[in-house]
Amino acid sequence: MEIFLALVVFIAIHSLRQAKKQGLPNWPLVGMLPSLILGLRKDMYEWISDVLCRMNGTFTFRGPWFTNLNCVVTSDPRNLEYLLKTNFSNFPKGDYFRSTVRDLLGDGIFNADYDNWHKQRKPASIEFHSAKFRNMTTDSLLELVHSRLLPVLEDSIKQSNPIDLQDVLLRLTFDNVCMIAFGVDPGCLHPHLPQIPFAKAFELATEATVLRFVTPTLVWKTMRCLGLGTEKTLKHSLKKVDEFADEVIRTRKKEISIADSKQRSDLLTVFMGLRDEEGKLFSDKFLRDICVNFILAGRDTSSVALSWFFWLLDRNPEVEQRILAEICKILNEREDAINESPLIFKPAEIKKMDYLQAALSEALRLYPSVPVDHKEVVEDDVFPDGTVLKKGTKVVYAIYTMGRMEGIWGKDCREYRPERWLRDGRYMSEPAYRFTAFNGGPRLCLGKDFAYYQMKFTAASILYRYHVKVVEGHPVMPKMALTMYLKYGLQVKLSRRDQSQLPLNNKYFM
Ligand code: HEM
Ligand SMILES: *[C@@H]1O[C@H](CO)[C@@H](O)[C@H](O)[C@H]1NC(C)=O
Ligand SMILES: *[C@@H]1O[C@H](CO)[C@@H](O)[C@H](O)[C@H]1NC(C)=O
Ligand SMILES: *[C@@H]1O[C@H](CO)[C@@H](O)[C@H](O)[C@H]1NC(C)=O
Repeated sequence: MEIFLALVVFIAIHSLRQAKKQGLPNWPLVGMLPSLILGLRKDMYEWISDVLCRMNGTFTFRGPWFTNLNCVVTSDPRNLEYLLKTNFSNFPKGDYFRSTVRDLLGDGIFNADYDNWHKQRKPASIEFHSAKFRNMTTDSLLELVHSRLLPVLEDSIKQSNPIDLQDVLLRLTFDNVCMIAFGVDPGCLHPHLPQIPFAKAFELATEATVLRFVTPTLVWKTMRCLGLGTEKTLKHSLKKVDEFADEVIRTRKKEISIADSKQRSDLLTVFMGLRDEEGKLFSDKFLRDICVNFILAGRDTSSVALSWFFWLLDRNPEVEQRILAEICKILNEREDAINESPLIFKPAEIKKMDYLQAALSEALRLYPSVPVDHKEVVEDDVFPDGTVLKKGTKVVYAIYTMGRMEGIWGKDCREYRPERWLRDGRYMSEPAYRFTAFNGGPRLCLGKDFAYYQMKFTAASILYRYHVKVVEGHPVMPKMALTMYLKYGLQVKLSRRDQSQLPLNNKYFM
């Protein structure tokens, strides 16, 4: 008995001692799992950041014995540059990721590596940078903001009800990205905020897929076989997503066969016109995968970023004032009178809004829409900071933590300060390996330019008309998901802005 007790005490002291070297206590059998579970109960991203800051940016998480939970976690910019660019081909998404999300994403761009990734990235990149595509995206956004978003906001004022701004913005970007990927408008953003089966099915399918990452592989695979619990939900939701996609693809094929579809520039039409290396058209299943992946990429990332942005503005009214001043300065430069009604921002004006761009980047720095991301090691390698990487190791990079490292952003790294992005009043972008909200290297977010345009146009159109006040006492914290939603949405009350109070037509202002 005494010997046993002594052993327990020895192991406990040893495990806790290791905490200093390894970042967390590492227990026999269960590894660092107890700390992870404690961390998950509060705010996981803050917990990871806490460990990473203590460990100078990198630590190895050791899961229970005989599981595949071991991984290297890093937020060191040197490692990120190495991982995302320098030795890019040694760090694919990998088989573990692929098999986990395959049912939802198939062989689409998010889930692809090497040849299969290249074959989608190249044409999509050409398309995203074409003038026709830009025209289509700006026109569809304008239509959505002016004939759907603003009326819904106006309604909430008439009824003097608070409104969940995050929900409204999610509807806006979901409709928008479906128009871009599929060329169809699902109609989520309508008065009375209807529930659209396709959108709901998409949401459920994503949530069920994310759960697989925290369930042992054997367990979810068994559940899938037997059709139990969330695996059952996933199967049902996927069926609805597939039906929707099949219907769109069938209709488009018919349309193309009877008429010239040069008018259309959505991704589906573009990919339908391409051929693979053997000269064959892409299969319907592959077309479905391509579209589903783009919808996933663009459906919630910008709306979630905008939601955090509006929350930050509520806490930093001086930033809101500076954004308004910039908008007014730009409007005052118009040749024609600004009493056009409704007032619609022109693309060239959006482009000039440097302070707004800084304020949005600063929101993404603190609340990146994708808070953590993941890669796998193909061949043994070493990180620039000396961390040894064994073949098959999973690497997690903590984008959220990078915004909170004094070594990168200085002592005031936790403050919301758009000015840090400005030099002589102009927006200056940061290197992608310090500011990783859009990823970096060859897999840099394809939608980055569009996302900025979308966020700036939407934010300027709202702020020019309304003051957005977060409802007193509304709880704000991130939700655990692939994308960093506000867990309880963002309840706000809008009030109309008195435009005569704005410094418009005042050439002496600023
Ligand atoms: C604020 C908004 C956005 C943020 C923060 C963001 C962030 C990211 C990140 C972190 C990745 C890398 C994901 C990974 O490889 O695991 C990514 C990839 C991607 N994003 Fe975005 N994104 C945003 C908006 C958009 C939009 C609106 C679209 C499309 C309309 C889009 C399209 C894509 C695509 C296609 C990829 C895959 C690129 C590849 O793997 O080669 N993104 N984005
Ligand atoms: C972190 O870096 C500092 C200074 O570079 C060093 O003194 C310290 O020992 C490092 N800590 C760890 C845990 O590596
Ligand atoms: C890159 O990865 C390969 C393995 O694919 C490895 O042999 C090499 O040492 C790595 N480093 C550099 C700098 O390329
Ligand atoms: C896009 O093209 C249409 C038709 O050619 C044109 O009317 C519209 O003004 C263009 N939009 C933009 C934003 O350039």
